[in-house]
Amino acid sequence: MNYPYSETVLERFKSPHHAGKIKDLDGVGEAGDPSCGDMTRIYIKVKDDIITDARFKVIGCAAAIASSDMACDLIIGKTIEEALKVTNEEVIKKLGGLPEEKEHCSVMAEEAIVRAVDDFRSRQGIYFDHLSYYSSVPCRECNCGMDSR
Ligand code: FES
Repeated sequence: MNYPYSETVLERFKSPHHAGKIKDLDGVGEAGDPSCGDMTRIYIKVKDDIITDARFKVIGCAAAIASSDMACDLIIGKTIEEALKVTNEEVIKKLGGLPEEKEHCSVMAEEAIVRAVDDFRSRQGIYFDHLSYYSSVPCRECNCGMDSR
């Protein structure tokens, strides 16, 4: 099936800027989408609380590849706290939109960033209050205040 992808999605899919792996990584996070069985992994390099590099590997569709690539763009140069605020909606906007049936593909990148930060903090011996963090993430289905991830 051909989806009406934006020029940016097609460009990022054909020539991703951040595909690959960081060998001396500071954190890595994975997320999967049970609805399609696809997954993404995001690697981060951190110096003085700033993400200096981010790379990704994806098993998934064009939307997942473009989303992961754009998510890496959005977190490079940001502090850890700022990176945690990057949402899939922001990724979609920067991509010039995604077809509605492909919007879920962008969620994996957002979740992989959170897990990469979690891994970074674990490696640094920094306590990450998962309960507070996840209870502050609104449910995507109905905004009931519960984490739906
Ligand atoms: S269909 Fe699975 S990530 Fe896009």
